[in-house]
Amino acid sequence: MLVVITGKGGVGKTMVSALLVKCIAELKAKDENILAVDADPASNFANALGIKTTCSVGDIREDIRKMLNKGTFPLTDKEMYFDGKVFEITAECNICSINFDFIEMGRPEGYECYCALNDMLKKILKRMENAYKFIVVDCEAGLEHISRRTTTKADIMLIVTDTSNAGFKTAVKINELAQRLGVKKEKIFLAVNKFNENFNESAKQRVEEKINACGIPEIWRIPHDEEIATFNLGGKPLIEISDDSKAYNAIRTICKILLP
Ligand SMILES: Nc1ncnc2c1ncn2[C@@H]1O[C@H](COP(=O)(O)OP(=O)(O)OP(=O)(O)O)[C@@H](O)[C@H]1O
Ligand SMILES: [Mg+2]
Repeated sequence: MLVVITGKGGVGKTMVSALLVKCIAELKAKDENILAVDADPASNFANALGIKTTCSVGDIREDIRKMLNKGTFPLTDKEMYFDGKVFEITAECNICSINFDFIEMGRPEGYECYCALNDMLKKILKRMENAYKFIVVDCEAGLEHISRRTTTKADIMLIVTDTSNAGFKTAVKINELAQRLGVKKEKIFLAVNKFNENFNESAKQRVEEKINACGIPEIWRIPHDEEIATFNLGGKPLIEISDDSKAYNAIRTICKILLP
């Protein structure tokens, strides 16, 4: 099952992705495989998961490009070489007794465009779908992945927003574009993050109106969580968050509702 986490910059996509991995391991996938994919060129999913990576898909692509330029590429079959290398850089992780695999997409060197890397992401997701019960993809902010159709095969597209106008506007754009490019309406859900439980009644009402107006079914509200803010301050991996964290409890509910 391919679960894609998308939304405006800074709304909490990486936090939701990391806690989903933790939660899937806790609730669903004790003996099944989970793959976490960092599809954001700014790459910080690894930090949230408490792992260090040394090589990304972007690096593989760069090596292939250099070898092809020099005429030293070792095989006739580029695809086979690529598959082998992706297998090599897939990190097998065990963090806080949570087992999962991890792939970082990285970014192209210099001024090169992201198209080639996005094509590679599409291929990787296609090839991995049979090997893993759950694949969680932390996307780059905004519409890029959707417009390049790298994530339009999602079984679940979770659009994250905070309570800002801009967050909701981006959510609406993502929803419209995703559906235009073939994602079924029933697969798209909204998670409102950093919800301030101390909002007065009128502010709560305004949030409610924004949720209704944006036309994406709300799956659950994730409260602002001081524990997450403290972890962030200390640079601690979010995967180590306590079982009774408010945000983690909300993610648990999302996991129970969305994932079989
Ligand atoms: N529920 C929450 N409570 C408190 N802080 C939060 C919560 N969710 C996210 N944050 C904090 O908000 C900041 C942005 O979160 P995060 O990095 O997950 O967003 P993002 O959407 O992945 O951002 P980017 O678009 O830059 O990748 C981080 O400092 C994170 O710790
Ligand atoms: Mg992020």
